[in-house]
Amino acid sequence: MKTVICYFSGTGNTRKVAEGFASIFTERGDEVLTVSVDGLTLCKKLPDNLIKQISDCDLFGLGYPIYAFNAPPIVLQFAKRLPRLTKNKRTFIFNSSGEPLKLNNISSLKLCGILKRRRFDVTNEYHYCMPYNIMFRHSDEMACKMWETARRLIPLDAKNMLNGEKHLLKRVRCGALIAWVMRCQQWGGQLNGRMYSVSKDCIRCGKCVNDCPSHNIRITKKGKFKFGGKCLMCMRCAHLCPRNAIRIGLFNGWKVNGPYSFIAPKTEEEKQHYNRLLTKAYEQYFAEAEQRINNEAQ
Ligand SMILES: Cc1cc2nc3c(=O)[nH]c(=O)nc-3n(C[C@H](O)[C@H](O)[C@H](O)COP(=O)(O)O)c2cc1C
Repeated sequence: MKTVICYFSGTGNTRKVAEGFASIFTERGDEVLTVSVDGLTLCKKLPDNLIKQISDCDLFGLGYPIYAFNAPPIVLQFAKRLPRLTKNKRTFIFNSSGEPLKLNNISSLKLCGILKRRRFDVTNEYHYCMPYNIMFRHSDEMACKMWETARRLIPLDAKNMLNGEKHLLKRVRCGALIAWVMRCQQWGGQLNGRMYSVSKDCIRCGKCVNDCPSHNIRITKKGKFKFGGKCLMCMRCAHLCPRNAIRIGLFNGWKVNGPYSFIAPKTEEEKQHYNRLLTKAYEQYFAEAEQRINNEAQ
């Protein structure tokens, strides 16, 4: 079986999930192509070889982080560049988000419409809770628990999908309207992106310039940073800056800097969960996942 998995990941969480799915298919001996959509939307057309691989595959997967209860615009743009197929292609969606709220289930509404028009038939969708890359930093213990849970759920989800089971997320009432309203985050992000700046700690290593998926950052000949109007608010520049030197405009108080280690902390101090927000929702998410993992292991 041939599978193509395309994904966008601002700060690495969704990439981990994409790689998790890819490794399950590879272990089965399937042919798997995993592609980051970074840069692909800068051209009008997707590369011919990618279009061919996608058209020929048996299963197509598309993954993204949830932004304000929506799929990021770069993923929608990518979907709009997909070929119009002559027959239905089995498709699955996976997404990661910082919290387990059911409202996140509406994130794929617009994307599903775009895919449907191209005959990508979304039969399965999976959501995984992963650490926040904005707003607040999850403790290393929490981040580790989230990834551990996703890592154990992915094989179950892949197995069920390969057995032909359908799995779609339950939308909340008025989901389309809520998602539409929340899409104001996209232009808000573009406006705010122009307000990004760098502090004196910046060493001009150029990492942010090279990493930015929308090529929105440049350094002028005089060494000044220019942040354009195409910011996706993916947080990659600020999150991965080695000197924590990027200020994210009006949302600077929400900045989460530095990649998560995903390694279980050992000391009590390290285990502190800095944020008590939505504790019940997280507990429920972990309890349901644990129950499923135990049930399916029997
Ligand atoms: C601009 C922005 C908006 C976000 N909106 C949501 C949201 O609506 N719900 C949620 O649970 N997480 C939200 N998050 C958190 C991310 O979805 C989460 O941290 C995700 O795992 C990041 O994945 P990545 O590392 O692949 O970019 C948001 C993050 C950003 C940067």
